[in-house]
Amino acid sequence: MAGPFDAGELHAPDGGEGPDDELTATLTPFDSDVEGALRPRNLSEFIGQETVREQLDLVLTAATRRGVVPDHLLFSGPPGLGKTSLAMIVAAELGGSLRITSGPALERPGDLAAMLSNLVEGDVLFIDEIHRIARPAEEMLYLAMEDFRIDIMVGKGPGATSIPLEIAPFTLVGATTRSGALTGPLRDRFGFTAHMDFYSDADLARIVSRASEILAIPLEPDAATEIAGRSRGTPRIANRLLRRVRDYAEVRADGRITVPVARAALLVYEVDELGLDRLDRAVLRALLIQHEGGPVGLSTLAVAVGEESSTLEEVCEPFLVRAGLLSRTPRGRVATTAAWDHLGLRRPDRAPGQAVLPVDIDPGPGPRG
Ligand SMILES: Nc1ncnc2c1ncn2[C@@H]1O[C@H](COP(=O)(O)OP(=O)(O)OP(=O)(O)O)[C@@H](O)[C@H]1O
Ligand SMILES: [Mg+2]
Repeated sequence: MAGPFDAGELHAPDGGEGPDDELTATLTPFDSDVEGALRPRNLSEFIGQETVREQLDLVLTAATRRGVVPDHLLFSGPPGLGKTSLAMIVAAELGGSLRITSGPALERPGDLAAMLSNLVEGDVLFIDEIHRIARPAEEMLYLAMEDFRIDIMVGKGPGATSIPLEIAPFTLVGATTRSGALTGPLRDRFGFTAHMDFYSDADLARIVSRASEILAIPLEPDAATEIAGRSRGTPRIANRLLRRVRDYAEVRADGRITVPVARAALLVYEVDELGLDRLDRAVLRALLIQHEGGPVGLSTLAVAVGEESSTLEEVCEPFLVRAGLLSRTPRGRVATTAAWDHLGLRRPDRAPGQAVLPVDIDPGPGPRG
């Protein structure tokens, strides 16, 4: 069932600073309309994450049958895996309206009090990046989540009094990319936590195919698989790559996305077969060529590629580690054998300090034979 949530709220602040958001940040109005159009509207349109879907379906169906508002829900996982989409789906499935805010926006308790006191029964309050909520607002949230009540402080100093205010029974949906950063008391007040995992290539191919149907892009099934394989397990990246490949197909080909068209397009956008982009490869190259595969410290590596350490740590490394190309050791970052293979470099069988050569260059018989 598609619920009557306010379409105007669909484009409310949406995290916006996850590592996968660099393109989202520069979206044209048209492209962001596309982003909205691609969001799954109900649980049956939501592809993959079978466990989360089944668990959530049980929570929602049981509450609906009992005629109560469901427990508060926490969605945790890396950016672009569908947390915001799921929050919208919860509101749609419950037929309530969705109120959207985010942790950083709730700096003063008054900001939160205003939101809470405007809720009507059955509403879903979505707090994105809930781990960034300020402490006083968080404490107000405890009471609201547990007793559907808040205490409003009136006056200051010794004469201050608190006036209790009833709020309508609602469901809080929190989303976080860092569930570890949530305080214990807040985490404990959620009745259900969904841990979102990276998607399989098969699921991503289904997501890309669905998106191509919505956007009326002719896409061959093998090409969907090709795009899926370069999407780092992330639907947002899959949909983004599809849009860029469509651009290429329309400008340089006949508009139809075939495997050769997808490959040629992704070559232009410097997304390789594993989904690494230019920065990822620069990091690997610095690690392999300048530092002979490591171990090397993060800050040294950052200087070598001209980036902030935090960018490397938050944007590049998680995927490089997950792809089995890099490992973090107490002594520093170390390249794996797969990293040498992926960049087509030969792991040096040499005295330290000697140059590392690409595989296709035969160094000839060296001094060591
Ligand atoms: N399971 C899915 N099926 C189809 N499309 C999906 C799915 N999950 C996500 N998407 C698509 O990916 C995009 C990003 O998802 P969403 O905004 O919900 O991610 P998020 O987890 O909230 O990310 P962030 O942490 O950055 O806020 C959506 O616009 C939607 O089109
Ligand atoms: Mg989000």
